[in-house]
Amino acid sequence: MAADLIVGIQWGDEGKGKIVDLLAQKYDIVCRYQGGHNAGHTIVVAGKTIALHLIPSGILNPKATNIIGNGVVVSPEALLKEMEQFDNLEGRLLISDKAHLIFKYHEQIDKARERLRGKNAIGTTGRGIGPAYSDKVSRQGHRMGELRDIDTLLDKIMDYFKANEAYFKALGIASPKKEELREELELYRQRLLPFVVDATNYLWEKMERGGHKILLEGAQGTMLDIDHGTYPYVTSSNTIAAGACTGLGLAPKDIGKVTGIAKAYCTRVGNGPFPTEELGALGDRLREQGHEFGTTTGRPRRCGWFDAVAARYASRLNGCDELALMKLDVLDGFEKIKVAVAYEYEGERIGYVPSDLENVRPVYEEFAGWDKVEGVRGWDDLPIEAKLYIEALEDLTDTRIGILSTSPDRADTIIRK
Ligand code: IMP
Repeated sequence: MAADLIVGIQWGDEGKGKIVDLLAQKYDIVCRYQGGHNAGHTIVVAGKTIALHLIPSGILNPKATNIIGNGVVVSPEALLKEMEQFDNLEGRLLISDKAHLIFKYHEQIDKARERLRGKNAIGTTGRGIGPAYSDKVSRQGHRMGELRDIDTLLDKIMDYFKANEAYFKALGIASPKKEELREELELYRQRLLPFVVDATNYLWEKMERGGHKILLEGAQGTMLDIDHGTYPYVTSSNTIAAGACTGLGLAPKDIGKVTGIAKAYCTRVGNGPFPTEELGALGDRLREQGHEFGTTTGRPRRCGWFDAVAARYASRLNGCDELALMKLDVLDGFEKIKVAVAYEYEGERIGYVPSDLENVRPVYEEFAGWDKVEGVRGWDDLPIEAKLYIEALEDLTDTRIGILSTSPDRADTIIRK
C-alpha cells in the first residue's frame, strides 16, 4: 500500500502541524524523512501544550507508530528532552540506525559560520543542521547505530577533532573532554538505543503485509530545499517529496497521494529572496493577525502575499495531488488581497521560478477581501469573495485545494468534496 505524503510548498511554517495532527489520527505509521529540530510546532492536547521538533505528529495518536527516518539529523539531547513530554514511548517511536547524529560541536560550527558570514548570514536556526549534513556528505558523520559501540564512536569523534584541529581553533571551538563525552554517549546509548532499528526494513515489511496506512511528514518547505530552493538561503536537506525516498529508503512508486500545504499568504524566516514580502504596515498586520513568530527560535517571520508562481513550481516539484490552504482567517478584514501571478525578470514577464529569484519583481493581481471566515466549517458558508480567491489560487497553481483551515482549532477545517 502506497504511503501518503504531506509537504510544505512555501518557506516552511505553512501550518503542516495542524494538518498532520488532523490526518495522523487516521494513519498507523507516521514518518519524518528529513530535517531535524530546526522544525517545530506546538499542539495543545487536553489543555497540555506539547512541542514537537523531531518526533512525528502521529505520537498524539496512541495507536500509531512513529518513525524518524535515516534522512533526519537527530540531536540526541533535543530528542531526549522532547521524549520527556510522553509517559511511555516504547513501541511507538522508532529511529533509523542510519539517521545521523547532531552533536554540540555541530551547533557551535553553525553559529560560528553564521557569525563569519556577517551580512551574508543565512539566518539559520543555529541548531547545527547544516554542519551535521555536511559531515554526513563528507563521510565524517556519525549515525544512530554507532551508539551500539560507544568506545569506538568516542575514539572516532576525538580523532575527528584532532584531524580538524586548526579549523576548530579558527572557529574558537574547544575539543570535547573525553570523559565528559563518554558519559554523554553512555546516556544516549542507554536511553535511545532501545528505539533504534532498521527503519527501512520495518517499513518495507509493513508495506508488503498491507493493511497499514502510512503518512510521510515533510519538514520546512519546498522553497528551502537544498537543490530546488533559494540557494544558498535554504536548509541543508531535500525538503521536497523526493526527499522521502532517500530519507526513508522508499521507491518513488511507494508514494501515493501528495498533499501540499500552503498558507493563504506567505512567510519566511531567515534571509534570502522573498518576492512578495511586504515590509511596511501590511506586513506588520499579517504578522500580528497570523501570530507569525517562529516556534523554534521565536524570531518574527517576514510576511507577504501569496506567491502563485512559486506555489505552482512547488506543486509541480512535489507532484501535489491537492493543496491544503491554511490560515485563511488571517486575511479577515483586509480590504484588498494581492497575489503574485507572474514575475518581471530581465525586462520580461515570466511565469516560472528562475534560479536567481532575488532579481524578480512580482506582478500582482488584486482580489476583493472579506469580513470574516474565522471558524467557518463549510464551503457554502464562506463569503463569495473568499470562494473567488480560493478558486483563483486553484487556477493559478494548477492544483485543486481540497482542505481549508479557518482557525488553529482542529474542528475549523473545511474538507471539500
Ligand atoms: P537551518 O535549517 O537551521 O540550517 O536554517 C536554514 C534556513 O532554513 C533558515 O532561513 C531558517 O530560518 C530556515 N528554516 C529551517 N527550519 C525551518 C522551519 O522549520 N520553518 C521555517 N524556516 C526554517
